[in-house]
Amino acid sequence: MHHTESLCALLRDSRSISVLTGAGVSAESGVPTFRGKEGLWSKFKPEELANLQAFMANPELVWEWYEYRRRIIDQVQPNPGHYALAQWEKEAGSFHLITQNVDGLHQRAGSGKVIELHGNILHNRCLRCGNTSQSREVHFEGKVPGCSCGGMLRPDVVWFGETLPEKAIEEAFAAAETADLFLSVGTSAIVYPAASLPQVAKSSGAVLIEINVEHTALTPIADHFLQGPSGEILPVLFEKWRTVRIG
Ligand code: OAD
Repeated sequence: MHHTESLCALLRDSRSISVLTGAGVSAESGVPTFRGKEGLWSKFKPEELANLQAFMANPELVWEWYEYRRRIIDQVQPNPGHYALAQWEKEAGSFHLITQNVDGLHQRAGSGKVIELHGNILHNRCLRCGNTSQSREVHFEGKVPGCSCGGMLRPDVVWFGETLPEKAIEEAFAAAETADLFLSVGTSAIVYPAASLPQVAKSSGAVLIEINVEHTALTPIADHFLQGPSGEILPVLFEKWRTVRIG
């Protein structure tokens, strides 16, 4: 712990809160994370699934994988961590939620504005005309779904080697630069540019709080490292903020 101020004082004095979430925030809902023993990348090869070349070479395989992940997401519910962030947004003056997750669980928990850096698995995008649509309008049943223009549909997520949505990345960096309190929650903080957001926040003067079940690349620069599941820690932190905040 590098910061001398107590957590309560930090929460009380914060005027602008920004939060970055990763797969860990949805782990307690039952959505698998990417890395780690039970992570998706231990069972699947990203280079065969999460890039455009792979998709062009074998779109059925990639669609099947996304259909599998969509089915998981359809069956799970937001957890207390998602709900705490949604309520926090409603009660705080300045609050920005940035996520690397594509599962839409923040929105389902009631978060009004979510900056999605890696797209949304519930949306599709046409490779030809670029139109986006709700994924639940189409299902993968062995045949790659098509757009009304005749083009091939792909999941509207960011794959390896692709650039992030411009508006989202601009909003995310602005939120990092203006925050005086930045929370990094449930992310291994190794995929860039998302992983640079907590660093940017910190070098712009924010206090950095990390919530994770284990240490990450970010932990050495965090002012407070709160170890444990985000579904337990976020509601407690939010309640603490609620009781100490002024006004
Ligand atoms: P990772 O799978 O890399 O990391 C998940 C993090 O969550 C780890 O640091 C875990 O320790 C932590 N964790 C697990 N359960 C937790 C819990 N209950 N509470 C708190 N923390 C918990 O996922 P991300 O950091 O989100 O990108 O991965 C970043 C990006 O890499 C993803 O968006 C995805 C992937 O490749 C794309 O697909 C573009």
